[in-house]
Amino acid sequence: MSKTAILEIDGKKYEFPIVEGTENELAIDIKSLRGDTNGITTLDPGYKNTGSCESAITFLNGEEGILRYRGYSIEELAEKADFLEVAYLLIFGELPTKSQLEKFHNDIKAQSHVDEDVKKIIDGFPKSAHPMGVLSSLTSALVAFNPSSVNVDSEEEMYNAIVRILAKFPVLTAWAYRKRVGLPLDYGDDNLGYVENFLKMMFKKPSGEYVSNKVVVESLDKLLILHADHEQNCSTSTVRMVGSSHAGLFVSISAGIAALWGPLHGGANQAVIEMLEAIKEDGGDTKKFMAKAKDKDDPFRLMGFGHRVYKNFDPRAKIIKRSADNVLDALGIEDPVLDIAKGLEREALEDSYFVDRKLYPNVDFYSGIIYRALGIPVEMFTPMFALGRLPGWIAQWREMRLRKEPIGRPRQVYIGEKLRSFKDISNR
Ligand code: ACO
Repeated sequence: MSKTAILEIDGKKYEFPIVEGTENELAIDIKSLRGDTNGITTLDPGYKNTGSCESAITFLNGEEGILRYRGYSIEELAEKADFLEVAYLLIFGELPTKSQLEKFHNDIKAQSHVDEDVKKIIDGFPKSAHPMGVLSSLTSALVAFNPSSVNVDSEEEMYNAIVRILAKFPVLTAWAYRKRVGLPLDYGDDNLGYVENFLKMMFKKPSGEYVSNKVVVESLDKLLILHADHEQNCSTSTVRMVGSSHAGLFVSISAGIAALWGPLHGGANQAVIEMLEAIKEDGGDTKKFMAKAKDKDDPFRLMGFGHRVYKNFDPRAKIIKRSADNVLDALGIEDPVLDIAKGLEREALEDSYFVDRKLYPNVDFYSGIIYRALGIPVEMFTPMFALGRLPGWIAQWREMRLRKEPIGRPRQVYIGEKLRSFKDISNR
C-alpha cells in the first residue's frame, strides 16, 4: 500500500502522498498543498528539505558517501570510462556503443568552430577580467551566432544544440584563458581527443608545437568525470530554473556558470589553493588556521571542507586525493601545499568541531593541487569545473524539457510593510 503523510492545521487534517525513489528515498508530495489548504505554503530557505524535481540522472547518498551517474558508481566510471563516454551516459541515459560514441565524437568535431566575430567580443574584455565572467558572457553570446539552438522542439534540434555547446565550450574556455595571458586565440586539432585538444588550445605557444603528456591528459579526463554531475546543486538548479522558462540551452548554461562562480560553490577550488598558499606564506601553522575556522567571530572558513549534502567523505575527494599523489609523483613535482592540505585534513578529522558537524573534505580540497600540477593557473580552476560540469547541466536541462516540467516559480512569505500611504518627498 502506498504511504501517505497527514498534516494537521487548526484541527483539520490533510493527506498527501509519499513518493518513493528507486533507492527508497521518501518525499512528501505537496503539489496540492496550497489548493487544499486555501493558500498555505511551505518555507525552506536554501531548499535544505525540498526536492525540486524527480530525476533519473544522478544518485547521491550524502550520509554514506555514494555518488552514481545513471546507476554506475563514480569510482568505476573514473577508472574505466573517458569523459565523452560519461557525457553521453549522463545526457542520453546509457553508455554508448562503439558506433554511437564514434558518431558523438564526429558530431562534436564537426561543430568545433566558433564564429570569428566572437573574437571581437573577447577583445572588448580587459585582460584582468575573471575567466568565469568571460565564459558566462561568451556562452550567452553564442546564442546570437546559433539562433537555431534556442527553440528546440524536436529531439533532433535538441541533439544539435547539445553537440554544438559541447564542441564550442572548450574553445571558449581556452580562449578566455589565452586572452588573459595575452596569447593569440588558437583553434585546436580535430584529430586529437576532446581533452587533449582542449589542452592544446590552452597551452600551444604560437612559436612551438604542443607536445601532449599522457599523465596530464588522463588526469584531467578523470577530474572532468568527477565533476560531471552532482544532481540538484546550486548551478544545476539554476540551469533547470532558467531552462524552465524555455529560454534555451546556451543561456541556461551561461546562468549555471554564473552560479558556479561563487566561492561557496565552484569557486571554492580557487579559494582552497589561495588559502593553502596563504597558510604556507604565514609559516605553515595549520593549527592557527584551524582555530580561525572554528572561531564564530572570524569570517574565515576552511575552504574545501563541508558540503550541503555529504555528511561523510565526499567520494570524489577520496579519488582526487589518491590521484593527487599519483599525478605529482608521475610528473616529478613536489608541492608543499599538498602536505599542508593533508595536515589540515588530519587535524580536522580529529577535531570535535569538524567531527560533530560532519565536515569532511569536499571535491575541491585536493582538485586545485592537481590542476596546478597540470599547469593550469589558479584563475582557471573554476572554468575547469564548468567544463567538467557541462554534461551534467546539459543532461539536467534535457531531462527537465523532456519531462515538460512547469516553469520554476517559488513562493515566499511576505514580511514587509502593510499597505501605507505615499509620503511626499518634503515629508520623508
Ligand atoms: N569551515 C568552518 N566551519 C564550517 C565550514 C567550514 N568550511 N563549513 C561549515 N561550517 C560550520 C558552519 O559554521 C556551521 O556551524 P554552526 O552549526 O556552529 O553554525 C555548520 O558547520 C553547518 O554549516 P552550514 O554553513 O550551515 O552548512 P551548509 O550546508 O549551509 O553549507 C557549505 C555548506 C557552503 C559547502 C559550507 O560547508 C562551506 O562554506 N564550505 C566551505 C566552502 C566550500 O568548500 N564550498 C565547496 C562546496 S562543494 C561544491 O560546491 C562543489
